[in-house]
Amino acid sequence: MNRRIAVFISGRGSNLKSLFYASKNSVFPGSIELVISDNKSSLGLAFADENKIKYELVDFNTFQNKNRFEDRIKNLISSKRIDLICLAGFMRILSAEFIEFFSGDILNIHPSLLPKYKGLNTHQRAINAKDKYAGCSVHYVTKEVDNGEIIIQKSLLIKANDTAASLSARVLELEHEIYPEALKKILS
Ligand code: GRF
Repeated sequence: MNRRIAVFISGRGSNLKSLFYASKNSVFPGSIELVISDNKSSLGLAFADENKIKYELVDFNTFQNKNRFEDRIKNLISSKRIDLICLAGFMRILSAEFIEFFSGDILNIHPSLLPKYKGLNTHQRAINAKDKYAGCSVHYVTKEVDNGEIIIQKSLLIKANDTAASLSARVLELEHEIYPEALKKILS
């Protein structure tokens, strides 16, 4: 069955790209029907435009409050009959009410080996802690931030000379592998 996927972004959109390219494979069990960004400068929006993916800018600052902002998103995902939401660098926390409203699964990709390093600055925190491994996780989104069941994780060795930037670049390559893999795993 071909599931209708929405990808929520705020910035660069490299995970959106990896999901989009994976979805072009005929055996992939879903298609990206909508991209939502809360940031008009998001590079991911330009990618959606160039690749003829339907997209919507939902600029938080143009709404009276978070409820109204989420109401707009609810309308969009309902009208596009979205089955599954993938958060990919979406820098807003969805309310418990939104998570309950949406009947499908919501997934997120996080740049750490959860449950370690929820939140931001994950790579620097792993380096500071002198961890041997860093990595990334795709997990279900629940009301508690970065806490839902993990679907896939991948790790790599932290090098002695790694900086947050160098580590982030290598982990990002793993992110681009595991997000499509996680979708195939749960949708197939
Ligand atoms: C990724 O590192 C992802 O794990 C985190 O935000 C970043 C988004 O990058 N949640 P991109 O916009 O997909 O390039």
